[in-house]
Amino acid sequence: MSEPHPRTVVVLAAGEGKRMKSSLPKVLHPLLGRTLLGHVLGAAAPLRADRTVVVIGHGADQVRGHLAEVAPEATPVLQAQQLGTGHAVRIALEAAPDATGTVVVINGDVPLLRPETVTALVEAHEAAGAAATVLAAEVPDPTGLGRIVRDTAGRLAQIVEERDATPEQRALREINAGIYAFDAARLRDALGKLSTDNDQGEEYLTDVFGLLRDAGEPVAVHVAADHVETLGCNDRVELAALRRLLRDRVNEGWLRTGVSILDPYTTWIDVTVTVERDAVIDQNTQLQGATVVGAGAVVGPDVTLIDTTVGEGATVLRSHAVGAEVGPRATVGPYAYLRPAARLAEKSKVGTFVEVKNSEIGVGAKVPHLSYVGDATIGAKANIGAATIFVNYDGVNKNRTVIGEAAFIGCDTSLIAPVEVGAGAYVAAGSAISQDVPAGALGVTRAPQRAIEGWVARKRAGTASAAAAERARAAAEGASVEASAASEGEPMHEGAETVSGPATAGDTATE
Ligand code: UD1
Ligand code: MG
Repeated sequence: MSEPHPRTVVVLAAGEGKRMKSSLPKVLHPLLGRTLLGHVLGAAAPLRADRTVVVIGHGADQVRGHLAEVAPEATPVLQAQQLGTGHAVRIALEAAPDATGTVVVINGDVPLLRPETVTALVEAHEAAGAAATVLAAEVPDPTGLGRIVRDTAGRLAQIVEERDATPEQRALREINAGIYAFDAARLRDALGKLSTDNDQGEEYLTDVFGLLRDAGEPVAVHVAADHVETLGCNDRVELAALRRLLRDRVNEGWLRTGVSILDPYTTWIDVTVTVERDAVIDQNTQLQGATVVGAGAVVGPDVTLIDTTVGEGATVLRSHAVGAEVGPRATVGPYAYLRPAARLAEKSKVGTFVEVKNSEIGVGAKVPHLSYVGDATIGAKANIGAATIFVNYDGVNKNRTVIGEAAFIGCDTSLIAPVEVGAGAYVAAGSAISQDVPAGALGVTRAPQRAIEGWVARKRAGTASAAAAERARAAAEGASVEASAASEGEPMHEGAETVSGPATAGDTATE
């Protein structure tokens, strides 16, 4: 191994990105899990630079704040006026006066750049002992980009901006990708000699190549294998195109590691997500942030997971989750909403139209339908009936509800926190529970039911209800006449009609 070169990375991110038409600086626009700037910093990470300098200008405070979050080791350097890419690098090096070895410069708006490509560029540059090396690519449409002009021997002669180019130069399709490696000392020297004698009146970094070459210094071109990596982003149409390209790259990567993606065109996976083998991602699914999908899990169709962990063999169908944990073999949805700190243990179930926030659902516990679960701890194997509401908020404070192991909550129950239902306890359907229910007890708060006979005939005469009631009455009378004829006055349906004890939760709870 040769002596390692000290390396400094400079990312140019001071431009406004006018054509984005945005209050957000261009480099902060998001693209599948990172900002444009975040992607560029990620591509440069394997270089293990001694220092990373990011030149900021437009939206400096916003960019500085973002850097503090995603790359606290990077040094932001302010370029108050955007006087050109050469000027920007000059300012960056003023902030790194002791930088020696290799200076790697990357435009902040090339998010598809692969780490392998930057590394190959830098290694080729260092191995050749070049003064400057530019990453180039042959592109179908070079409009707006700087062209690589070669001499008759095929060596780099200069880089010419489109607006300064001759018609012959404009016809060239080999372009400057905006990614470079320089020898620090020779770069410094050349930057001091830049003029502003061009169509934009700016200091062009690209002019360094012509200057070095004219001084007899070795300059080189490193050609990228895949021109897609060098695509920049100037407006939102281009951003959308980059997003599709990155989606395809990410999806192909997961398909190759043994993940099934049933419809790669409608599946959007952030670069920050992990998906394990044999997971199945069905269509219209978005996996974002720090999401992890475990082996063999089935996610989708129509699922959005943000910072959510899905355990092995779990199923999530047509649902939205943020900051949630779905345990192994648990099932979610269709149509569930899991909010931050919803933690579903192994084999638990959160079903249809159920919202869960800051709650633990125990092993094998079920919340199958139409419920709100907030600030609760639900024990293993507990069953929460349809339309149960965990009343966690009294208008001032959030309070917790604790449901014991294998407790059984009847449908349409309000659990008014703070409250506790003991292990194995039952709560009758339709109750409003505000006091603890001891283990094994039945908690019930329902008023007794009464039937006011003949009320419809009296109060709703002439309605369809009254007519239906009358037909039912007549039919029952006929039936009971027949029945008494057959069995001497013992109506067959008596058993069913005379159950009169307080209905327990079991009557109306759902599975
Ligand atoms: C630049 C190159 C061009 C190349 C293209 C690749 C120059 C002169 N031209 O052109 O050859 O084909 O990139 O995309 O370098 N920036 C600053 N401060 C400034 C000016 C720019 O930080 O004063 C930053 C911008 O935010 C951007 C990057 O430098 O991230 C490139 O600037 P931009 O204006 O986009 O240059 P291009 O015209 O695209
Ligand atoms: Mg540009």
